[in-house]
Amino acid sequence: MSVEKATLPRWIPLLGGLLGSTTCGLLLYAFSVFIKPLRAEFGWTAAEVSLAYAIAVLIFGLMTFPAGKLSDKFGPRPIVVIGGAIVGIGFFLTSTIETKFQLYLYYGLIAGFGGGLVYLPPISTAPKWWPDRRALATGIAVVGLGLGSFIMGPLATGMINYFGGALPVFKYVGIAMFFMAIIAGLCLQNPPPGYKPAGWNPPAPKAGAPQAGRDYTFGETIRTVQFWMLYLAYFCGSFAGLMVIGVMAAHGINEMNKEAATLAGVAVDALPKEVTAAIAMQAALATSTLNAANALVRILIGAIADKTGTRICFLVTFVLQVAAMLLLFPVGKTLFLLCVVAIIIGWNYGAMFTLFPATCLQYFGPTAQGSNYGLLFTSWGIAGFVANLLAGRMFDIFGTYMMSFTIGAVLVAVGVIVLAITKQPQRLSVDGKPGSVRLSS
Ligand code: 2OP
Repeated sequence: MSVEKATLPRWIPLLGGLLGSTTCGLLLYAFSVFIKPLRAEFGWTAAEVSLAYAIAVLIFGLMTFPAGKLSDKFGPRPIVVIGGAIVGIGFFLTSTIETKFQLYLYYGLIAGFGGGLVYLPPISTAPKWWPDRRALATGIAVVGLGLGSFIMGPLATGMINYFGGALPVFKYVGIAMFFMAIIAGLCLQNPPPGYKPAGWNPPAPKAGAPQAGRDYTFGETIRTVQFWMLYLAYFCGSFAGLMVIGVMAAHGINEMNKEAATLAGVAVDALPKEVTAAIAMQAALATSTLNAANALVRILIGAIADKTGTRICFLVTFVLQVAAMLLLFPVGKTLFLLCVVAIIIGWNYGAMFTLFPATCLQYFGPTAQGSNYGLLFTSWGIAGFVANLLAGRMFDIFGTYMMSFTIGAVLVAVGVIVLAITKQPQRLSVDGKPGSVRLSS
């Protein structure tokens, strides 16, 4: 295969990934800061406001599949530019809402739709420019999810205090998101066929490793057992992570309030306002530490996985996550321990968004990576939708989050087993007959 000259410096698609994923971070993980002000302004219940977030997660997750397919067909640029305009407009329009339906439409449906289009193409594009550092490039293409939410928490809180309501945040941040995501799209382009960085040659395969060969098509990929094993593991890890992220602060507040009331010998309702306000600030710290770890891991685990392979990283992070989920309930009353466990949970959760795309690329090759990973990622959207609805119900029924965390631990344990028995499929022989997908056991 002739090796064509690259048409743009290869750090540019990485920048596209960073900007695009930061836009998605602004959209998604800090939504909890809007719940209280929106409730105060419109008199909606917490569940009514949170439904907008659950819809956004579902639509965002489901849109990644068409986004990947379209990106494989038309290239990443038009998809991200169009998605960027849509996500910015949806977020901006949220500043004009007067009804719940408008919140669901503008934030949940329109912004979620655009966000899915922006999120996926950089993940399938940036690593193609970095065959020598694939996992690291994937990490940089998704780091903004952690970064954006880390920025958005304090930014939105400050703006809400300044403007006296949440709606102006959607207006100004929506404008910023519009431009950030469009610039992200303009930075993206697939490398020419056969591209490899100057001076780099693919390493010789190790003895016993799957043979080199042509990539899987999308149709072939979805007929492998391995693809659906990855789907199940992704679903389990996402379900647990999203369920916890949504309630981390509420859990800390709940348990620390109970502890303070016990120490003072009074009922929780009788705690002075200054005490409950200080506890709320402390619990917010646990969420911030989780977000920081969620951002950092995406780069660090990429660098580690490029050396060790993704499999061992998967097993270590998933096993650690089972332990962290089980510890989360008992540590809830002690701020320091809660932050330590929050960091571990953010770390293991964020690692998935580097490890799954990198593994998908490694198993099935770059040709249909957009479609393959786009479909794989829909597991996140479905998991997030169900988890967000369930966590609140569990609290209403049991009065604590213990049951939610136990369900999370069980699901991640299922993920450990699935990942432990999933082996890389054999690559297809170059002259292989159509559909002759050979699977290793
Ligand atoms: C991520 O955090 C959107 O959940 C996805 O990368």
